[in-house]
Amino acid sequence: MAAKLIDGKAFAASVRERVGEHVSRLVKEHGIQPGLAVVLVGENPASEVYVRSKGKATKEAGMKSVEHKLDEKTSEADLLSLIDELNRDETIHGILVQLPVPDHIDAEKVLAAIDPAKDVDGFHISNVGLLGTGQKSMVPCTPLGCLMMLRDHHGSLSGMEAVVIGRSNIVGKPMAQLLLKDSCTVTIAHSRTKDLPGVVRRADIVVAAVGRPNMVTADWIKPGTTVIDVGINRIEKEGGGTRLVGDVDFDDVSKVAGAITPVPGGVGPMTIACLLANTVTACCRANG
Ligand code: GUN
Repeated sequence: MAAKLIDGKAFAASVRERVGEHVSRLVKEHGIQPGLAVVLVGENPASEVYVRSKGKATKEAGMKSVEHKLDEKTSEADLLSLIDELNRDETIHGILVQLPVPDHIDAEKVLAAIDPAKDVDGFHISNVGLLGTGQKSMVPCTPLGCLMMLRDHHGSLSGMEAVVIGRSNIVGKPMAQLLLKDSCTVTIAHSRTKDLPGVVRRADIVVAAVGRPNMVTADWIKPGTTVIDVGINRIEKEGGGTRLVGDVDFDDVSKVAGAITPVPGGVGPMTIACLLANTVTACCRANG
């Protein structure tokens, strides 16, 4: 393997340690404990795993963690009234509604109901607008984690060619905004992009966020490129059982890339670390 491994797990542990120290200072010196509320509607097994990990990490950082697990059939009105309650709760500084929500609930309406100052996901339309215009905002956790790893590896990203594969509101679009803010030349590629491998081959930085197992192969990658794999796909293992793989064929791409994140142990842990950091940021802003 030629590529350097970007160890998201170790990086996330260091971020979480710093967050924990910050929380303990807030508690000791100001009597303020940051609080995060996570809301899950329904029984999506992957979401249940994510929500459990978020709650555990929140408690480990010394913060207040509140989990609201609502029945699949919960009405939109009941969900909106819970959000309203959490918006008014002074012990809660961050609110996250785990996506996807069931089909009968309008996700956009739900995200718009969260107080932008408590929107630790950075999905509220005002935070999206602030990020897009380069102003102070809550920044979505997964792209923020990717950016932190890229800055740590490269120092300045100025002038680099970045290709983001995937145009979701959660990852692709905010990732592109953050890379642009760091003075990269940014391309957002997607399922309709003509000659996707050719476009990706231009990149010094590739961020893959499409949800297609092992889609990116070595022949798509210019030698020395840094590859960040946001994909978390569960596939059948030969001989039974399942395993997690990214959107990047790790064994193949690591022969040509300069640096690469693994799955698991890359972007995933950084997402949770950034959620904790965003909650502390929201708490500090709320308390002046
Ligand atoms: N579902 C998948 N990723 C995310 C995320 O970052 N935040 C929320 N709220 N839901 C998600």
